[in-house]
Amino acid sequence: MADMTDSAFCRIAKRLGCRIVFREMVSAEALVRESDRTLQMASFRDEERPIVQQLFGADPAVMAEAARRLDERFSPDTFDLNMGCPAVKIVGGFNGAALMREPRHAAEIVRAVKAATDKPVSVKTRLGWFSPTDILDFAPTIEDAGADLISVHGRTKDQGYSGSADWEMIGRAKSLVGIPMLANGDVFSPELAVKALEVTGCDGLLIARGALGNPWIFGQVEAALNGKRPDEVSDEDRDRTVLEHARLHAELYGGDRPLVTFRKHLVWYYKGLPNAKAQRELLTKVETVADLEACLGG
Ligand SMILES: Cc1cc2nc3c(=O)[nH]c(=O)nc-3n(C[C@H](O)[C@H](O)[C@H](O)COP(=O)(O)O)c2cc1C
Repeated sequence: MADMTDSAFCRIAKRLGCRIVFREMVSAEALVRESDRTLQMASFRDEERPIVQQLFGADPAVMAEAARRLDERFSPDTFDLNMGCPAVKIVGGFNGAALMREPRHAAEIVRAVKAATDKPVSVKTRLGWFSPTDILDFAPTIEDAGADLISVHGRTKDQGYSGSADWEMIGRAKSLVGIPMLANGDVFSPELAVKALEVTGCDGLLIARGALGNPWIFGQVEAALNGKRPDEVSDEDRDRTVLEHARLHAELYGGDRPLVTFRKHLVWYYKGLPNAKAQRELLTKVETVADLEACLGG
């Protein structure tokens, strides 16, 4: 998730049972220009492996060059190509979800990146632009182009985040391809994870919003899939993880007020909890780890 799944977040998710982390998308054009900010976004610690680095872009040659450079510099375990982002600034440049309208062009990007790296290359997409059945042609096209895995968010670009994810349609697409498919959309609890796997028949799940302020979801899903009762998260567990996450965030970004950009995570961590309002007001003012410690009484 852009602006959220940075190295600090991913390390916390891994420590709590996430099997594979997908890092936030980075611009292939910016990587090829060697933008410092983009290079920092793509850097990671070994602890995060196996790690998937997602790229977005429209030009097959630039996407391939970006993968080559990332391979040389950081060597992520796999590459993922964003063909599902609906944001206007992304689709405006024929990136992201716009590639679903140009399947041949999308296939060309997959082939170019495959030729540039020995690492597995996956595609993240949606059901379609307007029509949820687009995926039934798109997924086989992507497979034929050489993709090693597809992740499908069960909504169209037109839907944005409205309505609910159509897991049955993901299941129909899954039955048409031989490569592994990950189901994505609306998995907010271990019970929903079990159900999504049942309905879609997919090989795995991609959990996005359900992990915001809730990195425990990965361990809980794992427990539920093994027929165990997922552990509840106590207030102490929450505060301890929040502090651990905040320290990693501060170390990553540095500066005098490193937690100003951490407040977005704090809002998620304490959303909907009793007494959350008073605490949220305090938490939205924190600037440093010491402020946070004082706020949490630790
Ligand atoms: C804040 C935010 C940032 C996101 N950034 C990305 C991204 O960089 N790449 C991507 O493929 N999807 C991105 N997504 C979409 C999610 O990966 C996912 O497809 C979508 O949220 C539906 O899954 P969920 O119901 O589990 O959240 C983002 C979603 C959110 C909420």
